[in-house]
Amino acid sequence: MSGREFFQKRYEQIGWKLKEVNLKQAIRVNQTYSKEKNLVNRLSGLGLHLEKIPFLNNGYWVLESRVSAGATAEYLLGYYSIQEAAAQIPVSLFSNLKGKKVLDVAAAPGGKTVQLSDLMENTGVIIALDVDKRRLNALGNHLERCHVANTVVYLLDARQVSTLKLKFDRILLDVPCSGNFVTDKNWFKNRTLKDIERNAKLQREILTKAIDCLADQGEIVYSTCSLEPEENEVNMDWAVKHLDLQIQEVDCYGNEGLTSVFGKQLDSSVRLCKRIWPGETQGFFVCKLRRSKKDESKGNY
Ligand SMILES: C[S@@+](CC[C@H](N)C(=O)[O-])C[C@H]1O[C@@H](n2cnc3c(N)ncnc32)[C@H](O)[C@@H]1O
Repeated sequence: MSGREFFQKRYEQIGWKLKEVNLKQAIRVNQTYSKEKNLVNRLSGLGLHLEKIPFLNNGYWVLESRVSAGATAEYLLGYYSIQEAAAQIPVSLFSNLKGKKVLDVAAAPGGKTVQLSDLMENTGVIIALDVDKRRLNALGNHLERCHVANTVVYLLDARQVSTLKLKFDRILLDVPCSGNFVTDKNWFKNRTLKDIERNAKLQREILTKAIDCLADQGEIVYSTCSLEPEENEVNMDWAVKHLDLQIQEVDCYGNEGLTSVFGKQLDSSVRLCKRIWPGETQGFFVCKLRRSKKDESKGNY
C-alpha cells in the first residue's frame, strides 16, 4: 500500500474523503500600523483583488494580483502579513491580550508572533522561542518589518522553558508537527506513522513543560497544521487526563474535534476542539485550554 493510500484510508476511517486542494493566498492586516479600509483601497489600486475572509477579523483572500503580495511598499512597511487563513485562527482565540506576558514556544518564522504583538498593540511582552537558528533569522526580519517592539527572542528548546523562570498569562503552543499534504506536495511520500508518533510525543513533552509556566487564570492555545489525530485530539485527550487541563469552548471556523478515533473513545470535551479539514484553507487543528479549577494555585507568581 502506498503512503497516500495508507493515509487516505485513515482519513476515511475518521470521516473525511481525501481531495485535492488549491490553497488560496491570504493576508492579515496589521491593525496597529495600518487602517484596514485605506490599506485595502491602496492594494486594490495596485491590482491586488482582495476579498474579506468571512470567518476572520482582519484576513483577506488574495483573489487576483498584478503584483506579488510580498513585493509592495505596503508589505515592506509592515502594514500587512502574508498568512494562510487557518493559521490566523489560533492567536485569535486568546482573550484580552493587551499588556499580557505571552509565551510563543515554537515561534519561527513568526507569523503568529507578529499577530500576537498586533493584538497586544505592541504592549506587554512576548517571549518567542525556537530551536532553529536559521528560522529565527527569518523571525527577526519579520518582527522588524512589522515594527514589533515587545518581543524577546530566544534560541531555546521549548522543553527547557522553565530555565527562564517566568510565568505567562497566555501561552501559544503552535507546536512542531507533521504538516499536511496541502502545503507539501511530497507529504505522502515522506511521512510514515512513526513520524506522526514521534511528533505527537514531542508535542506532549512541550505541553507538559509549558504548563509549568502558566500563571493563574492563564490560557493556552494548542495548534498544529497536521491532520493526524495522534497529534491533535488524542494528545488533547491525554492532556485532559494527565495534565489536569480543561478544554474551553471556542467560537471559530472548523468542525468539532473527533471523540472516537480508530476505535478509541476520547474524553467527551475533546469535541470542543476545532478540526479544519483542507478545503477553503489548509488543514489545521486548534484547541484552547485552561488549568482545571483545582489546579489553579500551581500558577502563582
Ligand atoms: C509550526 S512551526 C511554527 C510556526 C510559527 N508559530 C509561525 O506562526 O510562524 C514549528 C516550529 O517549531 C520549531 N521547533 C521544533 N522543535 C522545537 C522545540 N523542541 N522547541 C522549540 N521549537 C521547536 C521548528 O523549528 C519550527 O520553527
